Amino acid sequence: MEKERIDVLLGLQWGDEGKGKVVDVLTPRYDVVARFQGGPNAGHTLIFDGRKFVLKSIPSGIFQGDKLNIIGNGMVLDAALFKAEAEALEAAGINLRERLVISKKAHLILPTHRLLDSALEASKGSGKVGTTGRGIGPAYTDKVARTGLRVGDLLRPDFEERFKAAKEAHERTLRSLSYEYDPAPLEKAWREGIDYMRQFRFVDSEHLVAGLMREGKSILCEGAQGTMLDIDFGSYPFVTSSNTICAGACTGLGVAPRNIGKVFGIMKAYCTRVGSGPFPTELFDADGESLSDRGCEFGAVTGRRRRCGWVDLVALRYAVRLNGVTDLILMKSDVLDTFKTIKACVAYRLPDGTETDEFPFDCEGVEPVYEEFQGWLTDLSKVADEDEFPEEFNCYISFIEDYLETPVSIVSVGPDRNQTVLRKK
Ligand code: GDP
Ligand code: IMO
Ligand code: MG
Repeated sequence: MEKERIDVLLGLQWGDEGKGKVVDVLTPRYDVVARFQGGPNAGHTLIFDGRKFVLKSIPSGIFQGDKLNIIGNGMVLDAALFKAEAEALEAAGINLRERLVISKKAHLILPTHRLLDSALEASKGSGKVGTTGRGIGPAYTDKVARTGLRVGDLLRPDFEERFKAAKEAHERTLRSLSYEYDPAPLEKAWREGIDYMRQFRFVDSEHLVAGLMREGKSILCEGAQGTMLDIDFGSYPFVTSSNTICAGACTGLGVAPRNIGKVFGIMKAYCTRVGSGPFPTELFDADGESLSDRGCEFGAVTGRRRRCGWVDLVALRYAVRLNGVTDLILMKSDVLDTFKTIKACVAYRLPDGTETDEFPFDCEGVEPVYEEFQGWLTDLSKVADEDEFPEEFNCYISFIEDYLETPVSIVSVGPDRNQTVLRKK
């Protein structure tokens, strides 16, 4: 990595690829780590020194030395959840108030946004998105409707009136949906969260980022969710409400496109999805169960069982192109250790019988076309050097690199920070 650059790390699938782990591993190479979109719908898991942390709104660079961590303008923040997350880190000895700053332009998730999320999902019947229930969609809806409240509004004397006006508008919608609720406990926790949040530094993060760049500092931007959950390019409407792709780092931090250097695209050696929506390679058999069990595929935020399937190279190539990925990071390869045969989807058969390797507008009724690989039947979790990779695993990696026309520069073979193999080029 060259200095004086902004690199981006983001998910190429449907989220939970292992972004938190790799951001933590890469942090020593950077001066600053910044989140640019999403909010507490994210659950980024880090495991080191026998300890496990799940970060939701706080960047995953918070544990590695005195790096500056930024909550960018593109994010949505729930004060109550922020307080719970931040206090747990403070209790673990992290000097958070020194290391973390929050953009004044980040939007606030209000208690009524969370209620609206539940009410709107309940009203959708069989068309539910299967959201995380954290108020993400309603908060971004208000942002785009120009009725949202931002972190910087907390400094204004009329904040309480603005809050009341937003709350009343939400309550009108909740009534129209006949949604029964008790706002008091949520609002109490939220107000405590707001008081706590006020102790942090609120910044004009776009000016801060520009200044850091002028000083020659390097910045790693941490994506949340994944490319296939992007509001524009994901499997709409079964998506999240922000731009999860690389362009989101530009709008979510105020970074000019020409300042973006490397784009690390992170993918599992197979595929998972939480919530509803198309998933062409989903498995409903013993192999799917095995992936789920061996990969401990349960949501880090909601505890829901993740749907599992073979790796989908059609969707991945789409993701690689949308993001301009320069480096692939291959995660959870160890989960495939016990499979005699491993499959990778290389094309889709469309309902009219034709085949395509371009990701289609509509995934309804598409059938995956697979290439089969011999499994390596070796315990990868203790491998520390790529020279020790079994031949079958090298074949699998090479096929992925060729298909995606992008090199795999890091291979993860277990959840711990140390179970990471950096490849020599
Ligand atoms: P994120 O949202 O992209 O940060 O990913 P999550 O933390 O939601 O999900 C990734 C899960 O896989 C977590 O439980 C990690 O501890 C775990 N994990 C990460 N890398 C590996 C790996 O290489 N092998 C295995 N077995 N688990 C991993
Ligand atoms: P990380 O950052 C996996 C999914 C939800 C749902 C859809 C919309 O940990 O990878 P939302 O609450 O955002 O309105 O839900 O998006 N989703 C995720 N799936 N990982 C995530 O984050 C996700 N964040 C949202 O399950 O299908
Ligand atoms: Mg996650």
